[in-house]
Amino acid sequence: MNSNEIAIYIHIPFCKRRCLYCDYVSTTNTKLKDIYFDALKKELTLRSNELKDKKVKTVYLGGGTPSYVESYYIEDIFHILKDNYNLSELEEFTIEVNPESINEFKLRTYKSMGINRISVGFQSASDNILKNVGRLHTFEEGVKAYNLISSFFENVNIDFILGLPGENKNTVEKTLEYIGKLKPPHISYYLFDPSHETPLKNLCENGKMHLPDCDLLSDLLDFIYQKLEKIGYNRYEISSWSQDNKESLHNEFYWKNLNYIGFGLSAGGHLNRFRYVNTCDIEVYVQALTSDNFAYEFTYNNNEYQELTETLFMGLRLLEGLSYESLLDRFEKPILDEFINKILKNLPGYITYEDGAIKLTKKGLDFSRYVFEELIALE
Ligand SMILES: C[S@@+](CC[C@H](N)C(=O)[O-])C[C@H]1O[C@@H](n2cnc3c(N)ncnc32)[C@H](O)[C@@H]1O
Ligand code: SF4
Repeated sequence: MNSNEIAIYIHIPFCKRRCLYCDYVSTTNTKLKDIYFDALKKELTLRSNELKDKKVKTVYLGGGTPSYVESYYIEDIFHILKDNYNLSELEEFTIEVNPESINEFKLRTYKSMGINRISVGFQSASDNILKNVGRLHTFEEGVKAYNLISSFFENVNIDFILGLPGENKNTVEKTLEYIGKLKPPHISYYLFDPSHETPLKNLCENGKMHLPDCDLLSDLLDFIYQKLEKIGYNRYEISSWSQDNKESLHNEFYWKNLNYIGFGLSAGGHLNRFRYVNTCDIEVYVQALTSDNFAYEFTYNNNEYQELTETLFMGLRLLEGLSYESLLDRFEKPILDEFINKILKNLPGYITYEDGAIKLTKKGLDFSRYVFEELIALE
């Protein structure tokens, strides 16, 4: 672990409309834009002194919908970053965009700022699903946006979700057919998590909408894994596929539990063993920063054991797992050995120690939610 390197995440919490399945923090109240961005700039400057000896390797502008706000807001943020942080070794600079709010002008502006990776949300190739969940674009509009983005950027990710209402074999086949045609360098294919508090969860609980059943989802997941591999994608993380070495460098900081700093509403950070999460309340956020204070919802200093649990919790998402050597660089051998033995004993068949790395087995990957629940429950 190079403790001199950091990843920066910046949250842009504005959306034109809220999708029914989403539990990320964002608002449709655009009147708050000016005060929010002022507070965000304050947070960026306030923390910069503490990070002046750190080299920023990646920046990720996520949301919300960063492409929904005028690009001068994004440029402003970039200038603060440039003036206050060491970007001399910046390798990956990503912005999340939605099909309905991206255009040539914004893409040119992003490019001129040094953004070199775009993540665009399609979610599905089925217009029926997109409409069901309140998306503001059709699939065809998604494809048009992708083609425009690819004419400016080589490194593009597309987000999909499996398991929204209306999902069936045909909708997945269509989605995969288009992935084969568009061949984005990177794909995130998430499994819808119905446990999050979302409007969709309520609608399903009240019988107004229906989710696909678990057996169908399990078959569809297998189908997706096989098909993506067949068309040249390498699954390197539970929900991530890439081709041509286009793995997400930014997410690697999360998965390897390295140092990353989150700015903005609901953003979290991990610096050495200090962990924090910012408030989700925009008024509290703005008020705190206006008074030159950080807007923490939560802070914590991990002890060795907690840090190790977190590191494995995140690292097991990677298909290559975590190498014993890399863990030994960060943790005391007796604690490390005891913990590895404990998880191998408690999760037989789900986790394996092979070729010097601890990782999920095929069964562990298929039942990863169960594995992670068990892992945090281990005392
Ligand atoms: C926070 S969103 C921001 C991206 C962008 N605003 C968009 O709509 O495409 C990032 C991604 O999280 C995923 N996501 C959001 N809610 C989810 C849920 N409940 N379950 C699984 N994935 C979800 C979607 O694929 C989405 O593209
Ligand atoms: S999925 Fe994207 S556009 Fe939809 S509510 Fe979440 S952040 Fe906003």
